Amino acid sequence: MEAVLAENVEILYGSYKAVEGLNFKISEGETLLLLGPNGAGKTTLLRTIAGFHKAYTGRLLVFGKRPEDARELISYVPQSHSMNELVPLKAEEVVSMGIIYKKGFFHFRIPEDAIGRAKEALSFVGLEDIAEKHFSELSGGQKQRVLLARALISSPKLLLLDEPLSSLDPSARAEVAAVLGKIKREKNLTMIITTHDINPLVEIGDRVMLLNKKLIAFGTPQEVLRDEIIKGVYGPLARAINIEDRLYCITGDVHLHIKGEHP
Ligand SMILES: Nc1ncnc2c1ncn2[C@@H]1O[C@H](COP(=O)(O)OP(=O)(O)O)[C@@H](O)[C@H]1O
Ligand SMILES: [Mg+2]
Repeated sequence: MEAVLAENVEILYGSYKAVEGLNFKISEGETLLLLGPNGAGKTTLLRTIAGFHKAYTGRLLVFGKRPEDARELISYVPQSHSMNELVPLKAEEVVSMGIIYKKGFFHFRIPEDAIGRAKEALSFVGLEDIAEKHFSELSGGQKQRVLLARALISSPKLLLLDEPLSSLDPSARAEVAAVLGKIKREKNLTMIITTHDINPLVEIGDRVMLLNKKLIAFGTPQEVLRDEIIKGVYGPLARAINIEDRLYCITGDVHLHIKGEHP
């Protein structure tokens, strides 16, 4: 069974078509890198697959179910976290919230072993030493790893990450990219990761989707990251280069994301 199957999917905000004519599938265990310029519909597609945005037509299935019926199988990490940092939560408490997240607020009960499981999840992302530190005191890279631990604690089958590397400095990017590589190797998970800058992640991508309201290209990194394809989206200065068997993409768009967010 496909982890995600989309047939003729069109995603709407009122009468505005944010994404149209979408056909693709990803198999269980694959990692899809979702690439596209600002406003391409990446977040929209991710939120639709997560079951949060329901205004779509066509067929969209997550492990054979409609997204809203597959919530238990999905963890979604939005682009900017909504942690209220004035509430002094410890890292392990933030992670343990991942257990109850999907149950809805009317079943707000944290299991007794939650902190133990949170510590295990923190150790997976290499943060066992800071389990009792306050979230607000952590570095950007550490915060993102805590949020990954929170997403992993419920053992999802599908992990959706919206721009997990944006707003991080280069060393924090490398640190978070390394954890994503570890998830890819050690967890039997399907992942969809949206990104402006594909370079730090290209090695963990089994599939790359280039989206610009429509599906421009879908395939292996070698198939999609080609000059003629990315120039069509990012303009004549965009390049795909292969250095020692490693693919790099220069899209002119990348520098926008070194600090700060897009709107
Ligand atoms: N809540 C919303 N209501 C109306 N239009 C929206 C909303 N969210 C996004 N859009 C529009 O949908 C398009 C795709 O946005 P988005 O999915 O955020 O793109 P990306 O994540 O690729 O930058 C944009 O034109 C954006 O303005
Ligand atoms: Mg976005």
